Amino acid sequence: MTVEFIPLRDAHLDAAFALTQKLQWPHRPGDWQQALLLGEGIAAVENGELIGTLITWRWGADYSTLGLVIVDDAQQGRGIGKQLMLAGLETLAGSNIRLHATEAGKGLYEKLGFVATGHVEQHQCRQLPAVAAPACAAHQQIRSARQQDATLLTALDRQATGQQRPRLIANLLESAERILVLEEQGAAAGFACLRRFGHGYAIGPVTARTPAAAKLLIGQLLSTLGGQFVRIDTDREAGIGPWLTEQGLPEVDAPTTMIKGTPWRPESGGMQAFGLMSQAMA
Ligand SMILES: CC(C)(COP(=O)(O)OP(=O)(O)OC[C@H]1O[C@@H](n2cnc3c(N)ncnc32)[C@H](O)[C@@H]1OP(=O)(O)O)[C@@H](O)C(=O)NCCC(=O)NCCS
Repeated sequence: MTVEFIPLRDAHLDAAFALTQKLQWPHRPGDWQQALLLGEGIAAVENGELIGTLITWRWGADYSTLGLVIVDDAQQGRGIGKQLMLAGLETLAGSNIRLHATEAGKGLYEKLGFVATGHVEQHQCRQLPAVAAPACAAHQQIRSARQQDATLLTALDRQATGQQRPRLIANLLESAERILVLEEQGAAAGFACLRRFGHGYAIGPVTARTPAAAKLLIGQLLSTLGGQFVRIDTDREAGIGPWLTEQGLPEVDAPTTMIKGTPWRPESGGMQAFGLMSQAMA
């Protein structure tokens, strides 16, 4: 029987969820729905059965991400992963593409022209110890984001990541538990998002001008999460990994960041990304 490569639809998501469960990946059905809502998916189907997935996210004209690249373990080694990737690359033609590779995926991505540029650290714990809320300095203020902040948050996110993600920001303003905005002398100096993901809560995206501002935002969120499962994915080069470990969130994994094209370099002194949305969506 031949394998068909067709658009991934909502109707596939129960089977897609089963694939991540089998891999012991943490995604809930709602995490799959959000991922597909914001991207374009490809399904590998044989005999009416979903045997592989991949989702691409085009974030504006220049930058894209791809992830949730999975082939059912009984079907691996048949070239299905490669076919999914070739279809994904076609969808994203002309864009600089970022992904985070497991050891299993790295060889495939290298063959397709992806180059390792660093690591993303996955920090998490099952039950966060109590964390005291850090205090703002006199010139700082933290407030909750409002719907009217969509344009502002989209612009801050774009400065930090190069990605134009108005749909993601709109989705987070609707669905996240909390989004905090840091203001310094009345001007926005960063934001951090707390949302449900996987086994509990995820913090990200986190965007700020300095590591100190990022820690202030993350610390405020952590102070409300004692006893909870908490996760944050951060670029190693952002440099806050050791601090996250001190807060009770040890590094549990560090997939390889790989780029096909030109990596985004944020302006020095401008907004930097300290927390990813997710390893897949980046
Ligand atoms: C990664 C994965 C999607 C690959 O799917 P697959 O269908 O087995 O891959 P293919 O059969 O298409 O192999 C593609 C190519 O990569 C090569 N390849 C696959 N795994 C490799 C590895 N670990 N090291 C080196 N090369 C590898 C194959 O030899 C093949 O090369 P070729 O086309 O020159 O013969 C699959 O192993 C998987 O689902 N793993 C678990 C989930 C996961 O880790 N996904 C990656 C997330 S980033």
